[in-house]
Amino acid sequence: MQYLQQLQHLFETRPIEEALKETTQLFPGKVRFSSSVGQEDQVLTDIIARHNIDINIFTIDTGRLFNEAYETLDKTTARYKINIDVYFPQAAGVQQLVKETGVNGFYESVPNRQACCSVRKVEPLNRALQNTAVWITGLRASQNDHRKNIPVVEWLGDKEIYKINPLLHWSFEDVLQHLSTYNVPYNPLHDKGFISIGCAPCTRAIEPGEDPRAGRWWWEASHKECGLHLVK
Ligand code: ADX
Ligand code: SF4
Repeated sequence: MQYLQQLQHLFETRPIEEALKETTQLFPGKVRFSSSVGQEDQVLTDIIARHNIDINIFTIDTGRLFNEAYETLDKTTARYKINIDVYFPQAAGVQQLVKETGVNGFYESVPNRQACCSVRKVEPLNRALQNTAVWITGLRASQNDHRKNIPVVEWLGDKEIYKINPLLHWSFEDVLQHLSTYNVPYNPLHDKGFISIGCAPCTRAIEPGEDPRAGRWWWEASHKECGLHLVK
């Protein structure tokens, strides 16, 4: 974690594109950005692509995404002429999960839901982050209570990786403003009441005034993290 302070200073004092560029100079070929092609992630992809920053972008296809997410992925790679690596869950893991819990077993219990997220999201994420020194995400503090307390740059001891959340202190309005200013392609579901978008069976539109993450795993009382962002 010898670069923690340097990275923190960079992201606190410099524009995002400069901080990201310097990060790639510190860790050439070892900076990766996980994109769900949600609004925040589209902002970061736009910054990375427009400034030609040497960051590898990847997405996890859980096998249960909305078709609109695939369309957004296609539009994005075409618009910026970039590659986005797609990671899939392991077939054997999904087969076992479905055998044990059924295809939609996540509705039945929290452990079933966690097992599904673990097989379909967390395992591919861990694979994608092998040989990576810095993991960039689109997390924002105002998304939920857990995210309110995370730093812009953190050291994940278990993974031995720096996790950087460059948009942590952006507001939702900042994100919308950036998408509009740079005419960034985005998932059309965002215009239909879907704010935070994950897998199709686990995401619904929200009503005006509802918590932005109320549409995720809405049948559960309080579990608004799937495990991607719970590692230390
Ligand atoms: S989740 O943990 O609840 O699913 P959320 O949708 O808020 O996460 O997205 C937060 C960040 O997690 C994104 O900015 C992105 O970095 C990462 N992420 C979430 N889903 C994916 C995905 N399918 N592929 C790659 N990264 C993802
Ligand atoms: Fe499975 Fe739903 Fe988690 Fe997607 S969000 S991995 S479908 S439980």
